[in-house]
Amino acid sequence: MPDSRVPRLRRFLVCEPRHFAVQYSINPWMHPDTPVDVDLAQDQWQELIRAYRAHGHTVDAVEPVAALPDMVFAANCALVLGGRVLGSLFHAPERRPESTAYDTWFKSAGYEVFRSESVCEGEGDLVPAGRYLLAGTGFRTTREAHRQAQEFFGVPVVSLQLVDPRFYHLDTALFVLDDGTGSHPGNIAYYPEAFSPGSRAVLARLYPDAVIATREDAMAFGLNSVSDGRHVFIAPRAKELADQLARQGYVPVPVDLSEFQKAGGGIKCCTQEIRP
Ligand code: ARG
Repeated sequence: MPDSRVPRLRRFLVCEPRHFAVQYSINPWMHPDTPVDVDLAQDQWQELIRAYRAHGHTVDAVEPVAALPDMVFAANCALVLGGRVLGSLFHAPERRPESTAYDTWFKSAGYEVFRSESVCEGEGDLVPAGRYLLAGTGFRTTREAHRQAQEFFGVPVVSLQLVDPRFYHLDTALFVLDDGTGSHPGNIAYYPEAFSPGSRAVLARLYPDAVIATREDAMAFGLNSVSDGRHVFIAPRAKELADQLARQGYVPVPVDLSEFQKAGGGIKCCTQEIRP
């Protein structure tokens, strides 16, 4: 199996953390009293962009807006699938204006944006996985938004119940390793305890060969990773998970975004994928 993993080149949309800060608390990781080192955040983020480009991926950027400190978490702004854009309606009032800034970018790039009518936080909770759209709920994105996403994209949605507030978005507890082809369903990595018993059983049924992460690796944002099918851009502290992936023929590419953990974010959170 090693060396048979083939990368697929991606197009990513990101937002520079020029105005990154922790000014309010909308998840258990955020403590507005803890100072954020913006220079370190900038350096770490630039490293991520360099790593993507060094592996052949295309990276576009949205202009950051001064009063929107969470705008760096581009994954939350939309889900783009088959060239169709489902724009977000954020749960927290503090983040709602981000949608307008991202919509403007999508429109100027030639995309029509359908804005969700129910709370929906884009790729934070909606994760395309080959023939299914895996969809998290419990803290942010609603079940109504799942139904809407299924109608909008015409892809079967698998609703998954998140139960641990530390893993408030699906992309903090699960990521797609490869999309699969034809009859092959692809594969994922996840942390089972972040899900309700029923959702855990669904994941076990759909992905019997999934990579299972420890709590420690999940708490290190190891599941907030981006895979291109071969390279896995992953938090360096998620050591055991990286080793497991390497044994399965993937190539871990460690990128440290520790400063963003103070806002409850990591690699995937900073990365929106534009799927043509
Ligand atoms: N502070 C942000 C929030 O709570 C972090 C978002 C992280 N993004 C993600 N895709 N999980 O909304």
